[in-house]
Amino acid sequence: MKLDKSTIGIGFIGTGDISILHAKAVQKCYGAKLVGIWNRSSERAQQRAKEFGCRCYSSPEELVRDPAIDAVFVLTNLETHLEYTRLALQAGKSVLVEKPVGQSVAEIEEMDRLAKKNHLVCMPGHNYIYEAGMMRTRELVENDDLGRIVSAYVMYNIHHPEEVAARYPGVVRQILTHHSYILLYLVGKPKEICAMKATLHYEKITQEDIAMVQMRMENGALAHFCASFAADDHAADPWTVMVKVIGTAGSTRYSYRDHVEIKPGLVHSQTYTAYQGSIMNEVKHFIEVCLRQGGEPLSSLQDAITAQKMVEACELSISENRIISLS
Ligand SMILES: NC(=O)c1ccc[n+]([C@@H]2O[C@H](COP(=O)([O-])OP(=O)(O)OC[C@H]3O[C@@H](n4cnc5c(N)ncnc54)[C@H](O)[C@@H]3O)[C@@H](O)[C@H]2O)c1
Repeated sequence: MKLDKSTIGIGFIGTGDISILHAKAVQKCYGAKLVGIWNRSSERAQQRAKEFGCRCYSSPEELVRDPAIDAVFVLTNLETHLEYTRLALQAGKSVLVEKPVGQSVAEIEEMDRLAKKNHLVCMPGHNYIYEAGMMRTRELVENDDLGRIVSAYVMYNIHHPEEVAARYPGVVRQILTHHSYILLYLVGKPKEICAMKATLHYEKITQEDIAMVQMRMENGALAHFCASFAADDHAADPWTVMVKVIGTAGSTRYSYRDHVEIKPGLVHSQTYTAYQGSIMNEVKHFIEVCLRQGGEPLSSLQDAITAQKMVEACELSISENRIISLS
């Protein structure tokens, strides 16, 4: 499917924190316009419509029916992603759906089936990989320029206040989803997974605030994930978000700390410019490559399914205290 229009109209379902970054991204995307939004609480919707300079729909059905809308961003909580993605795809609108894409493999498979049946794009909001440093790493790995890959690390240490974490699942679902699609994109799929989690910082909620994972990759390399909402890392060369791939002939590093603004960024204590930047690049790819040129996302719904299987393997490893083989 190729959209040949001078301006591609975008609608948002859900206008929580992440919609602020998506609105800025659409605004910066040449040939795209945020036409309108719907949010469950109309007070929030009115306020955001004013901030974003767009219209406000009275229902998600009204939004997806509007011929001025070509594509819908599903930016609600995880539990409602399938409902709104289905609504948009059935109305003939392509979708960008935030991560984690679904609550189960079956939910993501349904989105994939509906998108294919209706010849539409349904792209996972896998923003972290839409960064030049990530793409360069993938190119080096693909060309065998790093030699034999021996290890990969995805580290995340960003403090989240308890009231923010309360709106999300624990870090296993919320953050290890990012880690999983990053690893898949850079070096491929693991074959064995072993995970642990803990709640060290939060007092009122039961969700875990830290999780670590060890993996054996299909080529024999070992990989490690850390996902923590419990504390920031402010030491020298911090592991705020750090991605490393090490091979026998070279290695790479990607860090959130390459560009920092000393002011709070949404729920983060500082503004990690890569957060907004990766969402801008992702939105640009969705609009310019997928919608206009009929190209592919860098990470597909099939990758979202594998990432979901990795997260579910982590949950099983934690609950049964054992290493899980990924089929
Ligand atoms: N890609 C990233 O880096 C990143 C970062 C943060 C959040 N996210 C994802 O974005 C999505 C939204 O997160 P957020 O930070 O904006 O959260 P938020 O809590 O600020 O907003 C949640 C939104 O979901 C809506 N909502 C909640 N329950 C609903 C229901 N039953 N029916 C309809 N709407 C409902 C709320 O009205 C609100 O608009 C989540 O899926 C989250 O995982 C992605």
